[in-house]
Amino acid sequence: MTSENFQSKVVQTAYDIVGKYNQDRINGFDEDFLESLVKLLDLENAENVLDAMAGDGNLTRGIINYCSCRNIELPSITLLEYSSVQTELARASIDSERVSIFNGDVLSMMDLESGEKLPTNYFDRVVIKSGNHEIRAEKQYHLYDSVFEVLKPGGVFINLGFLFNDVQERDEFAQITKVKDNLMGAADAVANRYFLMREELYGFLNSVGFKEAKGHKTFEYVIRSEIFEKEYFSNLKPNAAIELRAAQEQARTLRNHRRILLDANSSVMRIPGEITIAIKPPFFKGG
Ligand SMILES: C[S@@+](CC[C@H](N)C(=O)[O-])C[C@H]1O[C@@H](n2cnc3c(N)ncnc32)[C@H](O)[C@@H]1O
Repeated sequence: MTSENFQSKVVQTAYDIVGKYNQDRINGFDEDFLESLVKLLDLENAENVLDAMAGDGNLTRGIINYCSCRNIELPSITLLEYSSVQTELARASIDSERVSIFNGDVLSMMDLESGEKLPTNYFDRVVIKSGNHEIRAEKQYHLYDSVFEVLKPGGVFINLGFLFNDVQERDEFAQITKVKDNLMGAADAVANRYFLMREELYGFLNSVGFKEAKGHKTFEYVIRSEIFEKEYFSNLKPNAAIELRAAQEQARTLRNHRRILLDANSSVMRIPGEITIAIKPPFFKGG
């Protein structure tokens, strides 16, 4: 293990602080939406699936349920997550010999506990759900390059994430998120988070070698203050609601575009997202 990795192990990450929470509920994702994501993985035709930046393993649990309800043979699933707390939550809630769970880094595709790397040219699917904005701007290219490396030729990358067309909307949302992360004491998230413009994401995907990157579906993250506060309440500082509200009030463009709706005591944010699909060329000669 390198000293850089050892250091990252001892730092408490944002998702160590968050602990147990419901990511999908905060984002307003319902069962149908989540099931449509799993369906898109075309699991009948996949042997090896990587759930990267997997949090507490909710997507992997969804995959297991989906396959078991339909008598689909469960592919071999690798779950990779950086926060040791979230990794332990995944380990505690998933008991399948078809699932391997690693406390690891998506950028190095390495298990931080053993120092072992995931195999290259191996996975039929790599899926990242609401994860790519956690990676700092300078490492974004590296993220898609690492995903490309571990995919088999012909393998498919499915990314579900925030995606902006309007730079002002993006910057205002990034600012609100910074305020929230500061209130949680999540210094790494304040420093790292980067929300992508559409042309940035497609630029990265094309430059690492994906050939058919396309938007499968656009959607909105629907973030309601009452759900958000309930999920995060114990992690937030006393004045959090007031400070968050002030940050939302300052987001003029998001409010003008009705992406932030403020009531007397509550708010709803409707932030643009996309499920993006990118295919590694079947005859890629790199590996
Ligand atoms: C917003 S959460 C989403 C988790 C999960 N995919 C879901 O949808 O519930 C983002 C996750 O990415 C993880 N993460 C951040 N940086 C990472 C990295 N370099 N490698 C692997 N996981 C990372 C965080 O610890 C966090 O659990």
